[in-house]
Amino acid sequence: MSTLDLFLPCAGGCAPFLADEVAALTGQPMDALRVGRAGVALRGDWDTVLRLNLHSRIAQRVLIRLWEGPYRREDDIYAAAAAVAWEDWFTPRQTIKVEVTAQRSPLRSLHFAGLRVKDAVCDRLRERRGARPSVDTAQPDVRLYVHLTAETLTLALDTSGEPLFKRGWRIDKGDAPLKETLAAAVIAATGWTGVDADGAPVPLVDPCCGSGTLVIEAAQIALRHAPGRQRRFAFERLLPHDPARWAALRDAARAAERPWPAGAAAIAYGSDVSFRMVDFARRNAERAGVGAAVAFRGGDALQRLPPTDRPGILLLNPPYGERIEAAGVAGGLGADAFYERLAAHWKTHFGGWTAWVLTPDRDLPRRLRLQASRRIPLYNGPIECRLLRFDLQARNGSSDN
Ligand SMILES: C[S@@+](CC[C@H](N)C(=O)[O-])C[C@H]1O[C@@H](n2cnc3c(N)ncnc32)[C@H](O)[C@@H]1O
Repeated sequence: MSTLDLFLPCAGGCAPFLADEVAALTGQPMDALRVGRAGVALRGDWDTVLRLNLHSRIAQRVLIRLWEGPYRREDDIYAAAAAVAWEDWFTPRQTIKVEVTAQRSPLRSLHFAGLRVKDAVCDRLRERRGARPSVDTAQPDVRLYVHLTAETLTLALDTSGEPLFKRGWRIDKGDAPLKETLAAAVIAATGWTGVDADGAPVPLVDPCCGSGTLVIEAAQIALRHAPGRQRRFAFERLLPHDPARWAALRDAARAAERPWPAGAAAIAYGSDVSFRMVDFARRNAERAGVGAAVAFRGGDALQRLPPTDRPGILLLNPPYGERIEAAGVAGGLGADAFYERLAAHWKTHFGGWTAWVLTPDRDLPRRLRLQASRRIPLYNGPIECRLLRFDLQARNGSSDN
């Protein structure tokens, strides 16, 4: 099992950041990775599967591709699925679910394509192991992925189970929480690591923090917490699973964590006009094990002052919409008034900071009256967003930013 064909799907726009992460986690050179629009492919062994599940912050899941080839009809799909050695991966006692995705497939029914895969898997296990697995669409032991393009069929086995954005710590969430995987990609895009080139701390501030996703992800990065340290994975139920090897990897990850001394200043700060959200964020941070490294407070983004003398980064996905849902002093005034006041507040109090704003609002730089120095396209689910960078000049600076 030394050269598995692995594929890590991710949100649109995140693949370059995922590729950097995968290269760092596996030690593979960039040219060994295939970076697509919606994910990164690489070769690796079973250990690589465990490592990526435990440590990738940006991947949605880790798939093992077991078949890739041309197809025309449903019968081709059955024949391909019947040729895969599923019995090497799971037993008839385990429950399965087949998920189908497609882009420009000529087939009339994707549901039927999924049924053909399920039939082939069941027939093969009945023939080789004397019994067939049952289907469980709610909580299967094993998820199989079928991906159809106009000409190519891919069959893959999922090793993650619940998608990797489910880290196990977010129980309390607000109305529009960011997925943890997207939050991690956003932080990677800013280049923030918690320290500058001299090792001095660089604070991160989210003044519209909601349930705290960006702040908690940032703190986990600074503390070197593996994102999968608190959850279970589908690979634990697959036949190659070696509990001793897995325990060793988890122990090594725990040993590499940085303790945060009690009483030390926080590295990541969040505030929100909704005290309910602040309460959620605090509870999430405690569950994530980063309570000592973060500080959450209630307050209006138009009034909160920098929490540290040292400049750092502001990072937020603010509320959006024509009748902006911003609450607080500018609540109900509309997007233009809110952002005009936000930019004025930043110029007055956050000179020398860098603001990064994730938004689907193409008009945001105009509303802020600030020039974006970078624009990175990223998808929040189906919503096309931009991560915009604004360099806020120090107070004695000459620019009008
Ligand atoms: C899109 S949500 C942020 C979601 C957050 N990133 C998360 O993952 O949970 C926007 C947040 O801005 C907050 N908000 C709205 N107006 C605000 C204001 N004037 N000051 C501070 N926060 C505000 C809302 O309460 C909401 O939690």
